[in-house]
Amino acid sequence: MGRIRILPDQVANQIAAGEVVDRPASVVKELLETALDAGANRIRVEVEAGGRRLIRISDDGQGMNRDDALLAFERHATSKLRTADDLLSIATLGFRGEALPSIASVARVILETSTGDDPTGTRLEIAGGKILHVDDAALPQGTTLAVADLFFNTPARRKFLRAESTELSHVTALVTHYALAHPEKHFDLVSATHTILSAPPVARTAERIYQIFGKDTLVQLLPVAAETLLAHAGLPEPPPWKRDLDEPARDPGVLRLSGFYSKPELQKLNRNSIYIFVNKRLIRDRLLMHAITEAYRNVIPPTSFPVVLLFLEMPAEEVDVNVHPAKTEVRFRQQSLVHDFVRDSLRTALVEARPAAGFLASHMAPAAGPSLMPAATSPLPGSPDSEPGEILDAAEPFRLTSRLPPPVPGRLPFDTRAFDPGGWGGQDRQAWGEAAAAIFQPAGLLAVDGCSPTHADSTANGAGGAEGTAVATAQIEAEQAAANLNHLGSLRPLAQLRESFILAAGDDGLWIIDQHVAHERVLFEKILRDRQVEKVQRQRLLMPALVELKPSQMVVFARIAEELDRNGFEVEPFGPQTLAVKAAPVGLEGAELERMLAEVIEQSAEHFEEPKQNEELEAIRTRIAASIACHSAIKVNTALDPVRMEWLLLELARTSHPTSCPHGRPIALLYSWKEIQRAFHRI
Ligand SMILES: Nc1ncnc2c1ncn2[C@@H]1O[C@H](COP(=O)(O)OP(=O)(O)OP(=O)(O)O)[C@@H](O)[C@H]1O
Ligand SMILES: [Mg+2]
Repeated sequence: MGRIRILPDQVANQIAAGEVVDRPASVVKELLETALDAGANRIRVEVEAGGRRLIRISDDGQGMNRDDALLAFERHATSKLRTADDLLSIATLGFRGEALPSIASVARVILETSTGDDPTGTRLEIAGGKILHVDDAALPQGTTLAVADLFFNTPARRKFLRAESTELSHVTALVTHYALAHPEKHFDLVSATHTILSAPPVARTAERIYQIFGKDTLVQLLPVAAETLLAHAGLPEPPPWKRDLDEPARDPGVLRLSGFYSKPELQKLNRNSIYIFVNKRLIRDRLLMHAITEAYRNVIPPTSFPVVLLFLEMPAEEVDVNVHPAKTEVRFRQQSLVHDFVRDSLRTALVEARPAAGFLASHMAPAAGPSLMPAATSPLPGSPDSEPGEILDAAEPFRLTSRLPPPVPGRLPFDTRAFDPGGWGGQDRQAWGEAAAAIFQPAGLLAVDGCSPTHADSTANGAGGAEGTAVATAQIEAEQAAANLNHLGSLRPLAQLRESFILAAGDDGLWIIDQHVAHERVLFEKILRDRQVEKVQRQRLLMPALVELKPSQMVVFARIAEELDRNGFEVEPFGPQTLAVKAAPVGLEGAELERMLAEVIEQSAEHFEEPKQNEELEAIRTRIAASIACHSAIKVNTALDPVRMEWLLLELARTSHPTSCPHGRPIALLYSWKEIQRAFHRI
């Protein structure tokens, strides 16, 4: 007898479940998606013990008749696909017909469903994949799926579950994301005794953000919208003998982007606050992650990440959603077009908005309290970004600059109590706090002496319905527009503080500008511009400067030598371990020149050592420009006369990113007129 045999269905389902379901949040994801596919407008999610004991999802969607309800638990049973061709243009979130049988094979499931048209609804009980009961039942239209005792029959998997609060925070993050993607639908998330999230329908995403996170978070974000015709993509044509001449040419349609992105001063230590939705499907995508990082390059430090909520819409044929067992990854038909479009749209938006760092917003940034740090919250269940060690914003050394006052003790930037009007349990609160903090850890959320509205106020307004939020949104947009760095050019320098910071007066308030990083930004953009038109000015040194290198660094030097040459350097090897610098960009001299070269070579060596990291030329180029700018810029502790201060402000106003230096440090702080009045109790 042969050794190979076909596995029984139940075992096959359990194996499939291993890919589809790995924790309560992935069950919630599947059930939310099927509810949305069923056209539900109202979805209620109940969880007990972080979803380990019970997950119950009710929707008011189209429901199923008795036959369909039974079929739904068969493997590969789906109403969403018929032929292989359908796979090329999937417009629903589900399509494999695997979710329900997988879940039912590892839990006790009760399905209650009704189409509203049939005389009765159906109640179905399944445990470990076996149907126990099927009954008729009087039910309203829609479907309720209760999933109890997850992994009760697979103890090995059960062991991998984390603490209840951790699992609950994953569930919360997930429901929040889908609520963000569908502002027009009603979402509720409740635990055994309390409401964790309640989001009635609103007209726009901004209102939903406001509704869920409050005004202060929304103020930290800026809207972005763009679109491009996919027609210009220039895809390879099929060969003539394969072309159907009678068939009209297919219109590839439009690629649309909308969403919100954070101002440069709001920085996160990991990618957990970047959410990407493609055709309303929440995904992880390296390509788009890269595009977003590129958009923020030299605007925030390379070790920081922004908060981005990105919605891409494109014809279903343009994206293959059938590439990942949990449907959390996709493949774009025109990868580089999508990548470049996202990068350029975000970059353009960043340049156009050029928002000023609010005085409070900037110096409160480090106030992120460790108690709200997510222990293991991730944007998607099982995300590799969710390692707890990574998530410690408060440890971010960059933002804790010594010249800024320490955070106000005991006040957290995200007030979880705002979501706790009835005083709900600590665990739920913690889960919400974790999920919320994972999504947005807004800077500057602290109310000044009680003048700013609290989260509790804003949430209460938001929950009241669309009208209140629309008014608030208009007000927020006006506030967002107010502080703009385009004003920099018209500022009047008043004085220099400790020969390091320029104090300047403007119509909008008092500005403090860090002279070194301001000049750094000016030089950085000039160098890149000049470099592009091969116009970098070089100066010959009277005596060549000699720079000693290790043998490994000589190899790195060889790799970047050409780029250095284009940036105004003339450097030659002088003996086996020495470089002779004969010419350098204007403004870079003496010890600074040597330091700059050593720095660039050292940084390039780090990238060189990373395996399979074939660094792009563009990155080397900007790093060299940033390094030259840093070492040639006016230092702190340097006296500046008014003419020079004015010149610097004017030049800074002309740059495309006057908010932060090429390494991501803030350049200018605005103490707004409103904040000044408030501080003096005039408003
Ligand atoms: N909440 C619901 N309301 C109405 N129909 C549902 C609901 N949940 C499931 N169904 C029906 O059951 C079928 C099987 O669901 P299941 O989630 O297993 O597969 P799917 O959604 O088609 O694909 P996938 O495995 O990718 O999720 C669906 O195609 C749908 O017709
Ligand atoms: Mg499904």
